[in-house]
Amino acid sequence: MARPQFSERGDHIASHEPIRVSRYRGFTRANHWVTAACLMVLAISGLALFDPALYFLTGLFGGGQTTRWLHPIVGVVLFVSFALMFVQLWRLNLPRREDAKWMAHIGDVVKQNEDKLPELGKYNPGQKFVFWGMSGLIILLIVTGVAIWEQFFPGLVSIPVRRIAVLVHALSAVAIILVFIVHVYAAIWTRGTLRAMTRGTVTGGWAYRHHRKWLREIAARDNKGPAE
Ligand code: HEM
Repeated sequence: MARPQFSERGDHIASHEPIRVSRYRGFTRANHWVTAACLMVLAISGLALFDPALYFLTGLFGGGQTTRWLHPIVGVVLFVSFALMFVQLWRLNLPRREDAKWMAHIGDVVKQNEDKLPELGKYNPGQKFVFWGMSGLIILLIVTGVAIWEQFFPGLVSIPVRRIAVLVHALSAVAIILVFIVHVYAAIWTRGTLRAMTRGTVTGGWAYRHHRKWLREIAARDNKGPAE
C-alpha cells in the first residue's frame, strides 16, 4: 500500500451510517400522497372535460358520464385532504426575514452556491410559494367548482355568476398545474429531497445544506435529551 501523504495511519472513517433526520411522519406522508393522487386525477379528468380534443382522456375513467361525476367528488376529497395538510404545515411556511435575502440571491440558488445563501428553517421561499399558491388556488377551485356543480347544486348561482365561475375555475386549474410542475421539478432537482416524502427522513448533510436553522434547532433539542 502506498505511504500516506496527507494522513496518519490511525486516521480512519469511523462510521458509514449517515445521520438521518426525520422530516415527515407516516400520517403526513400518506396525507401528501392522497392529495397528490387527487390532483393528478383532477388534472387529467378536468382537461378531458375542458376541450373536445382531450375528450379521449375520459376513457381512463370509464367514459364521459363517469368522468363528469368523478371529477367534482375527487375535488372535494382533495380539498379535505389538503386542508388536513394545511393545518400541519402553515406555521413553518410563514414568511421570515431571511427569505428576502434568499430571494435576492436567486442566481446562487440556481447555481447551488449554498454558501452564499442565508440559513433557513424547514422551508425555503420557493417551497413557501408553492404552499401558499396551492392553498389559494384550491380555495378558488372549490368555491367556483361548487358554484358550477349542476348535479348537486342546480341553480345555486345566477347564469352571469356561473360564467365567471367557469372562467375562474379553468384559469385556477391551469395555474395549479403549473405550480404542480414547479413543485415536482424542484423536488427532483434538489437531490435527496424525494426521500423526505417517501421514507420520511433526509440525511444530515441534506438538512445542513438546505435547512440549517431547522437542523440546528432539532440538534439543540436532541442534545438536551427528551423533555421531562
Ligand atoms: C408526483 C407528485 C408530487 C411529488 C413527487 C411531490 C413531492 C414532494 C416532496 C419530496 C416533498 C417534501 C419537500 C420537503 O420537505 O423539502 C413535498 C412536500 C409538499 N408537497 Fe408534494 N409532491 C407531489 C405532489 C403534490 C401535490 C399535488 C400537492 C398539493 C396539491 C403537494 C403539496 C405539497 C406540500 C404542501 C408539501 C409541504 C411543503 C411545504 O409546505 O412547502 N405535493 N412534496
